[in-house]
Amino acid sequence: MKQTEVYKVNPDNPESDRIEAAAAIIKAGGLVAFPTETVYGLGADALNADAVLAMFAAKKRPLDNPPIVHVSDAAGVYKLAEEVSSKAQLLMKQFWPGPLTLVFKRSANVPEVTTAGLGTVAVRMPRHKVALALIQACGCPVAAPSANLAGKPSPTTAQHVFDDLNGHIDAILDGGPTCIGVESTVLDVTVEPPMVLRPGGTSVEALQKAIGDVQLHPFITTQKELNSEKARSPGMKYRHYAPKAQLILVEGMVTAVMGKIKELISACWMADKRVGVLATDETAWAYEADVVKSLGSRRNVDTMAPNLFRLLREFDEENIDFILAEGVPTEGLGLAVMNRLRKASGYNIIRVP
Ligand code: TXA
Ligand code: MG
Repeated sequence: MKQTEVYKVNPDNPESDRIEAAAAIIKAGGLVAFPTETVYGLGADALNADAVLAMFAAKKRPLDNPPIVHVSDAAGVYKLAEEVSSKAQLLMKQFWPGPLTLVFKRSANVPEVTTAGLGTVAVRMPRHKVALALIQACGCPVAAPSANLAGKPSPTTAQHVFDDLNGHIDAILDGGPTCIGVESTVLDVTVEPPMVLRPGGTSVEALQKAIGDVQLHPFITTQKELNSEKARSPGMKYRHYAPKAQLILVEGMVTAVMGKIKELISACWMADKRVGVLATDETAWAYEADVVKSLGSRRNVDTMAPNLFRLLREFDEENIDFILAEGVPTEGLGLAVMNRLRKASGYNIIRVP
């Protein structure tokens, strides 16, 4: 076991001594978790194969699922990518720094482990001041998957990181809760039109507005579990965001969803199970269950995203056996929220009219 140090850091004006200390750890091949505007990442020197391997081990992440490589300026891409199309440049100009990851043909500079042997590399420039300062101080690209144990909900606070990885990583920069709350959108720009592999913090609508035609990977729209040959993004084939409790997602018109959830609560209680409901501000009042939590208002799905992973973790702390979750509209960040809920349910989805 390692001693995991926690350094508090001002998210708006990060203290340079703490950033330097964290950067020194990464430069020496160590592992530091840090906040980004989406979720906390677990950083390692992307060009140091041993450091990246240690990162996989700490997270218990399968070696065939590569992390995102983070840069502190757009110029950093050219050392990692073989080809940067004009469309990609336009996207970088408009969305970086921010919650958009672009998949490029990889350059030979990047070690095999960092790209899990793929011919491509996923790159993003985050917007969070702590993340940017850290990457800059490292002087190298920083490989950073979400800083959770593989399969668990992504961490939106330093405490979530500590709960999952204490004793297995060198340090955590605690810059408070993250603001977007779901991970970046992953967009493959090696195909035409570019293809969304993971919906996230940059909405599909915003991408379409910027570059016109954008395809969604069939996995995102069919809402089914995918067999692995069809997984363009290795992350697609793993169970994700899974709380200990069994999550059942109920999708459809709100009133029908509420009716179905009430029915399921009774069934859970008959079976002597503890049941929680993941509801919304407009509907939470209507349920009687062991625990009822609201994701936020249906009038603005974007405001739900920052609560999602925290609430999933909270249900586990309250020893809930079943989480019954309402589906939410899929516009804006709602698409990312629904994608995470579907995965968290293991595709245990009930559709009502
Ligand atoms: O917001 C985020 O993206 C956070 C923060 C820390 O930046 N990072 C994050 O990383 O969510 P991670 O490793 O948990 O998710 C990366 C996703 C995975 O689904 C992985 O399969 C996919 O990106 N990915 C990585 N490299 C890829 C590649 N070359 N081609 C396709 N998908 C790739
Ligand atoms: Mg992750």
